[in-house]
Amino acid sequence: MAVATDTNRTAFLGAVLGLVKTYNLDGIDFDWEYPNKQGIGCNIISPNDSANFLVFLQALRQQAPNLVISLAVGITPFLDATGTPMTDVSGFAKVVDHIAIMAYDIWGSWSTGGVGPNAPLDDSCAPVKDGSATSAVEAWTAANFPADQIALGVPAYGHSFHVDSTSAYSSAGVLAAYPPFDKALQPLGNDDGNGTITNDQCGNPTGPGGVFDFYAMIDSGFLNMNGDPAPGIDYRWDNCSQTVIAKGNFINAQGLKGYSMWQSQGDYNNILTKALHAAMGIQSDCSTD
Ligand SMILES: *[C@@H]1O[C@H](CO)[C@@H](O)[C@H](O)[C@H]1NC(C)=O
Ligand SMILES: *[C@@H]1O[C@H](CO)[C@@H](O)[C@H](O)[C@H]1NC(C)=O
Ligand SMILES: *[C@@H]1O[C@H](CO)[C@@H](O)[C@H](O)[C@H]1NC(C)=O
Ligand SMILES: *[C@@H]1O[C@H](CO)[C@@H](O)[C@H](O)[C@H]1NC(C)=O
Repeated sequence: MAVATDTNRTAFLGAVLGLVKTYNLDGIDFDWEYPNKQGIGCNIISPNDSANFLVFLQALRQQAPNLVISLAVGITPFLDATGTPMTDVSGFAKVVDHIAIMAYDIWGSWSTGGVGPNAPLDDSCAPVKDGSATSAVEAWTAANFPADQIALGVPAYGHSFHVDSTSAYSSAGVLAAYPPFDKALQPLGNDDGNGTITNDQCGNPTGPGGVFDFYAMIDSGFLNMNGDPAPGIDYRWDNCSQTVIAKGNFINAQGLKGYSMWQSQGDYNNILTKALHAAMGIQSDCSTD
């Protein structure tokens, strides 16, 4: 609605520029999830969302030539008026500094293909292909978004699943890949309190988030303080989805701009940040308090 008409765009533009001025901001990140896509269930969407968003961003860039403008985006390009991913998003690249691809929440309690990785690097070898960092970067660059304006979104959290003990193992002590899970028994995450059902923004009851920040995996005893699996915790390496260090290598190999972590406070002693930085060959200047 904020960008649907010329009048509304002008008002929103004024509000954004006012915010930048009041707080002397270097940049603004727009986290519209997602133009012309329903999402939670009660959003007002329009086939013109992506086009209107672009017109707004062009006006913002014109008014604020030096402002850092970034967009948090999904794993496929913005939807066009027909609801399919745009094949040319170069117009956005011209007016924003970078996009951060939210290559996470790929699998979770909503998944239909069993337990899977929150943020796979690759999914070409997965039984169900719901997307990955690799497919997302391919999709955006194929739609003419330059790789060097793409930051890869890297999560500092995972999603919980309840898997019964017969499904959990493929043989003694060996965890099964993509086992079925029971959504009704999803373990509470670190932000779920006592699990009381609350209503979402549309007023519908919503179950526990089941999100474990990286630090909470340590606090809960799944990982030790170095981030390695704790004694007695079974684990497996999924060579398809891989993980943090491989993503650092991928960022360099693809010539991406860098990474964007959701969210750095989920890290513990900068373990994830440092692993990424080491793989990318950049100096870690984060403190380790
Ligand atoms: C423009 O903004 C007003 C005020 O927020 C809103 O009521 C109206 O629906 C918006 N117009 C469109 C077309 O979304
Ligand atoms: C979409 O934009 C076109 C062209 O500006 C306009 O004619 C049409 O009414 C808009 N549709 C909606 C649903 O806003
Ligand atoms: C659970 O937490 C909610 C919100 O903090 C609180 O209102 C409720 O009384 C708690 N229920 C129990 C059984 O502790
Ligand atoms: C694991 O994946 C990497 C990267 O795709 C590949 O080079 C390697 O051969 C794979 N290793 C195994 C054991 O499948």
